[in-house]
Parts: sequence; structure tokens; C-alpha cells
Amino acid sequence: MLGIIGGTGLTQLENLKITRRQLIRTPYGEPSGPLAFGDICGHPVIFMPRHGNGHTIPPHAVNYRANIWALYSEGVRDIVAVATVGGIREDLHPGVVTLPNQIIDYTNGRKNTYYDGKDQLVKHIDFTEPYCPRLRALCKTAAEKAGESLIQDGVYACVQGPRLETAAEINRLERDGATMVGMTGMPEAVLARELEMSYAAICPVVNHAAGRGNSVNGIRYEEIDKILDATMQRVRNLIEQVVILHAD
Ligand code: HPA
Repeated sequence: MLGIIGGTGLTQLENLKITRRQLIRTPYGEPSGPLAFGDICGHPVIFMPRHGNGHTIPPHAVNYRANIWALYSEGVRDIVAVATVGGIREDLHPGVVTLPNQIIDYTNGRKNTYYDGKDQLVKHIDFTEPYCPRLRALCKTAAEKAGESLIQDGVYACVQGPRLETAAEINRLERDGATMVGMTGMPEAVLARELEMSYAAICPVVNHAAGRGNSVNGIRYEEIDKILDATMQRVRNLIEQVVILHAD
């Protein structure tokens, strides 16, 4: 079963015909909201809005463990997550859609493992390749079918937020090798891996990172909103193709 996690600008999928919604109880507390069960073009999908239905949960307060657990417990084994980012690398300007292949985790204080129970084994999972190559290839083909150019690689820096970065922080992230910056990629990706689920992220660039491009004097939310509106319809079309290909 395929699960889609929607982020900012994607609290619902208009092309998803919802048959029921259900709030799943988990050993880790409440997920961001009820899961939406339905189908896209006749293919079953489960959708989870990461920030809640009304987009009220900030990135640092998302219960990532409950969200991933809820999807797992309903049979999801493949997750395609959508998460907006700021572009650091020059070609990652607003409106571009990316498919990162690496992640650097700068978050702190988030509950980032299922392996922290006192009576559990110590487990160190392999995370060399944080995103699933099969799902990434599927997203790439889906983009071709949707006529969407998808930038194939990139290093996602996951910051704690909720504030945006300073210009110096962006320079440091770039020196570290990051090409884009967001707030929700971790621990989502690693929790999926711990449950042996496959995970890939589609990351629409909605602004130049702080101090770059037209954010040189600051980041303006009105600009982000304009880009979000224009980009998310394309992302919905892309997701539709992902769902169709996944069912093949
Ligand atoms: N920084 C961090 N997270 C983000 C940004 C950004 O510039 N844009 C979208 N999510």
C-alpha cells in the first residue's frame, strides 16, 4: 500500500476520492490527524497531512513517530512524502521541484527513534542511502509522464525551525554540502526506515534560502504563498502519476 504525506500547501489532495477518515491510536500518541483512505484514479492510497488538517502543527511539534506508525499499522509500506524547501544551490529557485538523494540532520530534541524503550534491543539501522532508490526511480518516471522536470538529486538539510535561517547559517549549510533546506525531512525518513518501509521525498522549492537570490534582504511569506499555489497543482499531477505507476 502506498502512503502519501502532504506538507505545507498540500493538506489535501483534490484528486483523492476519500472513502473514509480514521484517527489511528498508536503507542506513541496521536498522529497529526485522521488518515484519509481513498483512491486516486481507482488506485487505493492513504493520505496523511503532516501538519494536521488545518495546518496547525509546526515542524518541531509534529508527532513523527505516531504518523509513521499509523501509516505502517494500516498496511502502508511505501511512502512518498512532499515537503517544501528553500533553495540553496543556484539552480534550485522557487517553483523547481526536486527529488533529494541525501539528508543532513540538524534537528534537536525530536523523538527520532522507535528503539528507545528500556526493554528493547539497541539497534543501529543502516542509513547510508536515506531515500529508497526504487521509489525515487518511480517518482522520476512519474515526472516524465506528468511533463514535470524534477531535479534528480540534492542534499536536504533538515533544520529545527520554526524560525527561518540566518544568511550565515545558509552559508554553513552550503559548505556542509546541502543544496536545499527544510524542517520536516527528519526524523520522518529514518522512522520509516526503522519500520522497514520505503520512503522518498518530493521537495518543491518555494523560496530562495535566506540571503540568497530574491531572499537577499529577507524571506517574504507573500512570495512563498504565490509560489505554493502555482507549484502544488503541479505536485498533485505528479502524485497522480506516482500512484498510477505504483499500482502497475
Ligand atoms: N528554510 C527552512 N525550511 C523551509 C524553507 C527555508 O527557507 N522554505 C521552506 N521550508
